[in-house]
Amino acid sequence: MNGQQFIFMGDQASGYNREILQMSLWPLALSILIFLGVSGALFYTVNRFREDRHDAAPQQFHGNNRLEVVLVLVPVVIVLGLSVLAVRSLVRLNTASAQALSVEAVGRQFWWQFSYPTSKVAGGVVTNGNEMVMPTKQRVSVTTSSLDVVHGFWAPNIGGQRASIPGSNKTWEVDTDRQAVYQGNCSQLCGASHSNMRYKVIALDQDRWTAFINAATAYTAPTPEPGSAAERGYTLFTQGKASTGAVACSACHRVQGTSAGGQSGPDLSFFGTRRTLGAGMWEAMTPRQWEETEVQPHSPLKFSPAAALHAWIKHSPVVKPGSLMPRYDGGEYKINGKVQKGGLLTDAEIDDIAAYLRTLKLPEEADYWRGIPVSGSTTAGGNP
Ligand code: CUA
Repeated sequence: MNGQQFIFMGDQASGYNREILQMSLWPLALSILIFLGVSGALFYTVNRFREDRHDAAPQQFHGNNRLEVVLVLVPVVIVLGLSVLAVRSLVRLNTASAQALSVEAVGRQFWWQFSYPTSKVAGGVVTNGNEMVMPTKQRVSVTTSSLDVVHGFWAPNIGGQRASIPGSNKTWEVDTDRQAVYQGNCSQLCGASHSNMRYKVIALDQDRWTAFINAATAYTAPTPEPGSAAERGYTLFTQGKASTGAVACSACHRVQGTSAGGQSGPDLSFFGTRRTLGAGMWEAMTPRQWEETEVQPHSPLKFSPAAALHAWIKHSPVVKPGSLMPRYDGGEYKINGKVQKGGLLTDAEIDDIAAYLRTLKLPEEADYWRGIPVSGSTTAGGNP
């Protein structure tokens, strides 16, 4: 289990999962009782009325109205009882109370946008890509929808699989008692990178959560130092490079506190705090891993984090099928079946953009990954 993400539908730290388990115990117990009753009666009858024990036919009671009424009423009462239990659980699981914290989860091809409508910032609300931060021991009301095709929101440990449908908002409440990182997946076949549409749910205890949401609300992206790689990266990020046809990143991406306000790609305000890239295609991008340029022997990745980020910026549609991000290696890629030609950035320019992105960090006390164990893992610190 070391360092592995542990996915468990019956995680009892979640109130949602507890409700489902408690509700299912009744039908389970009744089924066992009925099974024992019916098979007991069957064995008794077969044995008691064996032909070799009796010459005469057993007493007949066909047409006994009272017995027939009882035999109809008993199952009706059982089914009604179970319906009441099921409806009660459905009502409890689909509430959207005013006290709950609201999170909006919007599916896109092929990533997730998580935003906090009550945490307003200049030009929008606090928003993160592919990493959903939530408090523990508090109801969180998740509203999911989609901006293109049908996706499926599913983080089994916190409970409640929901289809994310364009033009429809589905709201339900989840909660968990345990501070941990949980795996989420898109559960609805949605295109070429359906399997590359993963996310993390990071549940933080109240003080950590408060530190995160306060810092995220107050956050303004740092201004890069004059003459640094990050500053050159920032210029490319916001202006692109018209002479080679390289579109500005800010056309699609937003960075809180800067002029970058694009809406069609993931919000990059906290990019440097994130430990996943490409909607979970790469994960465990810990500070330690960033230090190491060599690929770890146990790592399933073919890249170090720096190489992964470089490849991602350079030609996202090559490393992730169906990615709608432009290529910056001059190659061709397809958007909705139409062939497009990418712009051109040099490797050094790509590294400048990467350097800028890595400066986009929440303050240390608001780093939601720091010291948070992956659920079911013995490894502290999010991912190894
Ligand atoms: Cu989105 Cu599968």
